[in-house]
Amino acid sequence: MSYVLQIPVILCWSLAAAFAAPGDGSLSVTNIFAPLSTPAEAVYEAALLVLVICAGIFLVVGGLLAYTIIRFRRRPEDSGREPPQVYGSSQIELAWTVVPILIVFVLILVTARTIADVQNAARPADALDVTVVGHQWWWEIRYPQLGIVTANELHVPVGEPTKRRPTFLRLESADVAHSFWVPQLAGKTDLIPNRTNRMWIEPKQPGTYLGNCAEYCGTQHARMLLRVIAHPPGEFEQWVATQRQPPVDDPQMRAGREVFFSTSCVNCHAINGTLARGTFGPDLTHLMSRDTLAAGAAPNTPETLRAWVRDPQTLKEGCLMPNMQLADTELDHLVAYLLSLK
Ligand code: CUA
Repeated sequence: MSYVLQIPVILCWSLAAAFAAPGDGSLSVTNIFAPLSTPAEAVYEAALLVLVICAGIFLVVGGLLAYTIIRFRRRPEDSGREPPQVYGSSQIELAWTVVPILIVFVLILVTARTIADVQNAARPADALDVTVVGHQWWWEIRYPQLGIVTANELHVPVGEPTKRRPTFLRLESADVAHSFWVPQLAGKTDLIPNRTNRMWIEPKQPGTYLGNCAEYCGTQHARMLLRVIAHPPGEFEQWVATQRQPPVDDPQMRAGREVFFSTSCVNCHAINGTLARGTFGPDLTHLMSRDTLAAGAAPNTPETLRAWVRDPQTLKEGCLMPNMQLADTELDHLVAYLLSLK
């Protein structure tokens, strides 16, 4: 009995935790109950209605069940004979057929309306376009209007009171199916090979929103994390301007450059303004402007960068970046060069 009594307590706790705002004011929770973007708000409203209806059904069914168990339990004075058996009541059967059909119908209509509202939303003429390509196991992020290519960290502007600034995403995949999911910004949308899916986000507050791949895509599916950095007005333009700068050609980095261009690094990665134009791996032009390495597997610090380049398979087993078997001095030079790509 005590376990049964604990269920509502646990439910209330989970709900309270889900609705509570994070204490430090950061946006770094992946919480569908704290939407901060237009499509996520629509999904949240539909989800709340579904939750309320399901909670009602749970209370009615659970309440009747509990009542029956207690009211008709076996008592010492019972005769032990079978009670009268009742078969076929068209009224009861009609009630438990028609009512659920009506409930399901309401849920279908509300869901269809929410999906249509989000999918058919008009795209403002000056909205930002971004192409996101899923790879095993990282996100390629391209800004066709701006000529910027980056990875794993999607930078977008936040709207102003007088001007909406949504970002429209084209979702593609280079290998298997992935799914783009940043719970506070929008619902999930799959990235499917040989197909283009679309979705849009419209963050309401500046900050870093966390997300992850939501479709199992291989051994490192859990380390295919996403960050969306929403910039206040003006700051996004600054970010764009820095990303469009070519890398500085520092003569002191020659040794590291030579390591990069003499190994197969150059076949997979691109660095603007150089002969490196590979597209199998992330663009490294502004590698050090990113907070994380290996799609969020580690913070992007000189130490982790060195460990990552020395043996990617330790940090992210199964990833497509091979161990280049570099000698320590070569590794030092190469890492120094990479650190200069700000
Ligand atoms: Cu990509 Cu799971």
